[in-house]
Amino acid sequence: MMKISTLSWVYLVLLILYCFSTNNKCLLTKAQDDTSTSTTSGGSSSDPPPAEEEPKPVSKEQENCNGIFLTYDFSSKEKLYPHLKNATAQPWSFMSTASIVNMGLYEVKAWQMFIGFQNGESLVSAEGATVVDVEGPPYKVGKNGTSIVGATKTDLKTAVDTAGDYEQMQAIINFKGTMFGGSQNSKPMPKSLKLQNDGFKCPAATKKGGQHMYVCCTRDPKVKLKNSNSKYMPRTYGDITLAYDVLQAYPSKYLAQVTMKNNHPLSRLDRWNLTWEWQKNEFIYSMKGASTHEKDVSVCIFGPQGKAYKDMDFSTVQSCEKKPIMFDLPPEKIKDEKIGNIPYCCTNGTFLPKQMNETKSQAMFQLEVMKLPPDAEDRVDISPPLSWKLNGQLNPTYKCSTPVKVDPSEFPDPNGLDATVSAVASWYVTCNMTTPKPQKAKCCVSFSAYYAASAVPCPTCACGCEDNLPKCDAKNEPLPVPPNALLVPFENRAVMAQQWWKLKHKKDNAPFPKKLPCPDNCGVSINYHLESDYKSGWAARLTLFNWGQLPFQDWFTAIQTKQGYLGYENVYSFNGSRMANSEYTKNIIFMQGLPGMNYLIPETNGTRPDKDPKIPGKQQSVISFAKKGTKVIDIPAGDGFPTKVFFNGEECAIPKTFPKKNGAIRSQIGLLPALVVALLTFMLMVPLNW
Ligand SMILES: *[C@@H]1O[C@H](CO)[C@@H](O)[C@H](O)[C@H]1NC(C)=O
Ligand SMILES: *[C@@H]1O[C@H](CO)[C@@H](O)[C@H](O)[C@H]1NC(C)=O
Ligand SMILES: *[C@@H]1O[C@H](CO)[C@@H](O)[C@H](O)[C@H]1NC(C)=O
Ligand SMILES: *[C@@H]1O[C@H](CO)[C@@H](O)[C@H](O)[C@H]1NC(C)=O
Ligand SMILES: *[C@@H]1O[C@H](CO)[C@@H](O)[C@H](O)[C@H]1NC(C)=O
Ligand SMILES: *[C@@H]1O[C@H](CO)[C@@H](O)[C@H](O)[C@H]1NC(C)=O
Ligand SMILES: *[C@@H]1O[C@H](CO)[C@@H](O)[C@H](O)[C@H]1NC(C)=O
Ligand SMILES: *[C@@H]1O[C@H](CO)[C@@H](O)[C@H](O)[C@H]1NC(C)=O
Repeated sequence: MMKISTLSWVYLVLLILYCFSTNNKCLLTKAQDDTSTSTTSGGSSSDPPPAEEEPKPVSKEQENCNGIFLTYDFSSKEKLYPHLKNATAQPWSFMSTASIVNMGLYEVKAWQMFIGFQNGESLVSAEGATVVDVEGPPYKVGKNGTSIVGATKTDLKTAVDTAGDYEQMQAIINFKGTMFGGSQNSKPMPKSLKLQNDGFKCPAATKKGGQHMYVCCTRDPKVKLKNSNSKYMPRTYGDITLAYDVLQAYPSKYLAQVTMKNNHPLSRLDRWNLTWEWQKNEFIYSMKGASTHEKDVSVCIFGPQGKAYKDMDFSTVQSCEKKPIMFDLPPEKIKDEKIGNIPYCCTNGTFLPKQMNETKSQAMFQLEVMKLPPDAEDRVDISPPLSWKLNGQLNPTYKCSTPVKVDPSEFPDPNGLDATVSAVASWYVTCNMTTPKPQKAKCCVSFSAYYAASAVPCPTCACGCEDNLPKCDAKNEPLPVPPNALLVPFENRAVMAQQWWKLKHKKDNAPFPKKLPCPDNCGVSINYHLESDYKSGWAARLTLFNWGQLPFQDWFTAIQTKQGYLGYENVYSFNGSRMANSEYTKNIIFMQGLPGMNYLIPETNGTRPDKDPKIPGKQQSVISFAKKGTKVIDIPAGDGFPTKVFFNGEECAIPKTFPKKNGAIRSQIGLLPALVVALLTFMLMVPLNW
């Protein structure tokens, strides 16, 4: 007895001495150990350092909160090298902690917190959470703040369900980051703090004592969750929705199926690329119905994957990338037992609006995902990939949500029995089209009219111009041109524009501009020509031009025209129809190619490639409108022009002005030399019904 206690005394004294000599490192090491072990064992991070044995007493504010209680605490700050004289440029490192506790009656599924960082912070790590919608690490959250979701602890149970077990009711996130400027004593705090889950509302956060901030969010009684029996979030609308369904789960791997559905009547994807980010070093063992652009097996061999699966032959692995880029297979693979043979797959990455073809408005593929320890021990430990991004060739731009856990999807029984089978678990992502910013369009519109000699070409730089000071004028309006100039590539228009200028400025002798306006740089342009105006009606002609190198199969176009919608009669060479007025489709006439004419070929060489200009792929049709039922229409004043034009779902840049009335000449666009496109001439010969 004596011996032992003497020994332990000696030990203690030695330990204290050691602590002093190493500048309190033993305390810190212990705290760090705590956090690292607890994250690996399921993400429940302990309190920030200095760690405490006893749980912190619950604050008054938290006690008074009957909802979800969020906090943010600034912990510490340290000057980083280089030490600069200029205080604004001085980098600092900082540590802070956020927490989220469920003090309410309802479980919170897939919590998502917004932290309104405002001091140009850059997060190096966010232990216990995943930063969404920002590339990183480091996550440059800038002055806009960021959203975070639980890394492993995605759901917060209630005290009632857990007998008050904080482990299951709360999540703690430890941030480490850098920032610039400020003094030694300044404690930069975020602007705001809130819970972003549907059905909750948060008042403005309260700041206390300069480095503490909290808010109590409560359920919004006005928002009723659709399926109140469900434990999960409801599936909401998205222009495109993606389901991540786990079909089979084993401890170390699972089979997931991704289903994409197109819900917007004007949304479409071609040659889609889908990418996401694995959270736990997962890798794709195999794939059916889609493939990945790169394999990069070395990531696995030299990474944690190689350590976890020492005996695996990684040369046969589909993809080891953290952010794999996936794409659809070509139609040849549709029956391929090994990599194809999945419903809705293998269309070269095209999915269309539902109204064109319901079957073609979906896409699907399957992947076998390998997990790494510690998640590889339990089949229920599945973390879906985050940061989903979807894009395609000449398609609308989409912004996607973080995956939300939803009720497991149900499928018809694969054995043909009259039954349904459920997925093991399902996540759901919505992607919405975003309006293109000016100069970010992918197609553009030119206007011309029977009453005007000059056409209004596509806006300058409609689809962007190179930044490095082009030789052309990116700011100026395009020059007026004769309508037939719209038939040739931009580089061939300069001479025509100059001759036209001379003709138009005979009297005033205005000098031709030295620096010409830049091109539109669009792969697709659309000419909208007002063709005639008579007592009972009017007609327009729409011509699609493909200046790109790839064809468009199953193309569609749509015009928004308030006057034209009411009086719409017929589109002669396309399959046209008025769309039902809805939130997304107001006064829209939808047009697609007739069977056999649904192909817009790419640009081709002229007959003598060295001399003749290149020839765009073209499709053309006349549209007729009646005047009865519509108000007074002043066609020469521009009433006949559309307010919006879409091509393959993408909204096209449209001119700001209409052609000016100055002596009628016959438009040249309809009068193509028979040589150029025999097809077009044939279409123009199609008799019109008036
Ligand atoms: C100090 O640094 C800031 C940020 O880098 C910079 O904008 C500012 O011009 C610098 N001031 C001086 C006096 O160099
Ligand atoms: C902040 O938001 C603005 C407007 O949405 C955006 O233009 C800017 O790029 C954002 N900055 C960062 C750092 O994300
Ligand atoms: C599919 O894409 C490949 C390569 O991108 C192309 O060569 C092929 O013609 C396409 N097939 C169809 C049917 O569009
Ligand atoms: C035109 O398209 C509709 C679907 O949008 C289709 O039902 C109809 O059969 C098509 N008509 C022709 C002539 O192709
Ligand atoms: C829709 O697409 C499928 C698959 O390509 C095709 O079999 C079917 O005929 C199409 N339906 C219509 C109405 O065009
Ligand atoms: C899809 O991704 C590949 C690989 O990064 C890229 O080469 C291709 O251009 C992308 N396609 C589209 C339509 O963005
Ligand atoms: C898309 O829009 C729907 C409603 O219009 C909305 O509920 C959903 O959150 C949006 N998704 C994204 C990623 O913005
Ligand atoms: C078009 O002409 C260019 C030379 O002017 C040539 O390099 C190219 O191969 C031609 N393309 C086709 C499809 O004939």
